[in-house]
Amino acid sequence: MHSLDENRLAPKITRYLADEDATDAFGTALAALLKPGLMITLGGDLGAGKTALVRAMLRALGYKGKVKSPTYTLVEHYVVSSLYLYHFDFYRFNDPDEWHEAGFREYFNENSVCLVEWPEKAGDLLPSPDIKISLDVLETGRDVTVEAGSEKGDQCLKDLNLL
Ligand SMILES: Nc1ncnc2c1ncn2[C@@H]1O[C@H](COP(=O)(O)OP(=O)(O)O)[C@@H](O)[C@H]1O
Ligand SMILES: [Mg+2]
Repeated sequence: MHSLDENRLAPKITRYLADEDATDAFGTALAALLKPGLMITLGGDLGAGKTALVRAMLRALGYKGKVKSPTYTLVEHYVVSSLYLYHFDFYRFNDPDEWHEAGFREYFNENSVCLVEWPEKAGDLLPSPDIKISLDVLETGRDVTVEAGSEKGDQCLKDLNLL
């Protein structure tokens, strides 16, 4: 018999990324899981590689332009490979209410892919993620963890064959 908790165990993987090329390669692999309606958070300290990972995903989808960090603009929007992709960075939020005031709620819908750096700065107002990615800075390189936060995320990770 499975207990309820066991049934809810999320798929989770951790990989060591030795250098920036490894981050690029991992981002390229992750790009395959992006589909409309997905909400993905990216955790980790400043300089951990959150933006680098998003950049690699966008490149893998065929985006040729510059991929800037949304640190100052809060959000960068991309239309690529039939996806409406929003890349947020809430680092500069001082108060979760700012998220509400900025009118970002409507960006999180079934047609868009949302990738969110510093989700904790938006507090409880942010929809819960389907997939949680986090990066840990090691002495050399990074550890990346990818974890499902919903049934949908669960299925995406299984489809991706990373498990
Ligand atoms: N696996 C890795 N090992 C070491 N350095 C990395 C790795 N992946 C990315 N980097 C470097 O770490 C930095 C990450 O910066 P950035 O993506 O802007 O971080 P964040 O968005 O998390 O603040 C970049 O300078 C990048 O070259
Ligand atoms: Mg960043």
